[in-house]
Amino acid sequence: MINIVIDTDPGHDDIIASLVAFAHKEAFNILGFTTVCGNQTIEKVTNNILNVLNYLNLDIPVAVGAGKPLCRLPEPQPLAHGESGLDGPIFGHCDKKTLDISAVEFLYSKLKETKLTIVALAPLTNIAELLEKHPDCKDNIERIVLMGGSVYSGNIQVKSEFNIYHDPEAAKIVFNSKVPIVMAPLEVCYAGGIDLSLIERFNKNGKVSKLVYDMLSFYSLYSLNHNLKDTIIFDMTIIIYLLNPEIFTIKKYNVDIELNGEYTRGMTVCEDIKEDSIIHNPVDVLMDVDNEKLTNIFLESIDYLDKQYEEGLNQ
Ligand code: BDR
Ligand code: CA
Repeated sequence: MINIVIDTDPGHDDIIASLVAFAHKEAFNILGFTTVCGNQTIEKVTNNILNVLNYLNLDIPVAVGAGKPLCRLPEPQPLAHGESGLDGPIFGHCDKKTLDISAVEFLYSKLKETKLTIVALAPLTNIAELLEKHPDCKDNIERIVLMGGSVYSGNIQVKSEFNIYHDPEAAKIVFNSKVPIVMAPLEVCYAGGIDLSLIERFNKNGKVSKLVYDMLSFYSLYSLNHNLKDTIIFDMTIIIYLLNPEIFTIKKYNVDIELNGEYTRGMTVCEDIKEDSIIHNPVDVLMDVDNEKLTNIFLESIDYLDKQYEEGLNQ
């Protein structure tokens, strides 16, 4: 069992990643969520996590984080996630409130009490601010495990992935912090794509299936419009890594962040580790995954949660 805080900008894939974490109480002690602007404004992404926690009757603290990147302007992603940041599901009245302390102070307070793993599913603004403001917290960060970056490809520019591109200065601070990092880049997320034909499987009565169906009905439009056969649930990859690292192929690279290239802002430059390496930030990079095993973990997690709600165990 590990203590985790999930830093997030929900985001359909952020929520599905969180659902998989909820299904695995034996593996995760979720101390809280911290939100950060990315897929949508900080107000919208914070509302989205509160709505989901309210819908699922879960009492997990939420602390609000950065409303903009360290040095850049926000660039929300309505094409992938809609105007709300979580288009698809319709939620009822929400009673949940956020904590009175900021994301950074929440993380710091937890790190003063205990060792924890930070699960970063979004631009790294909050984490960079934490490391800059409270460098004494580093010893208690077991690892930062993050979805972000790429080895060869890009989804926002030719070689840049959205979470890193959105706040490259923050990413540079995090990758140079000497805190152990595991990175799930675009390539492993593509390798773990979920076949679009599986979405209909969630079109049934289970409380959690219904939420997943409503989310994927919107989120998968992106894949359908681009003639892809899979929907890529990027952020889920790193949660499944924490559950089953043995289904991944992992390679250590030295990684640093390109800040200002004309075509390469936010590129994660991955250098082979050798005697004369120029970069000195060793990172465990997930390179490939057994798609069938990953898909089964996803499907079984949602089935398990449905059953828990059906039996009244989670309400
Ligand atoms: C990342 O960007 C966001 O749109 C997703 O939530 C994910 O964290 C993928 O590039
Ligand atoms: Ca995200």
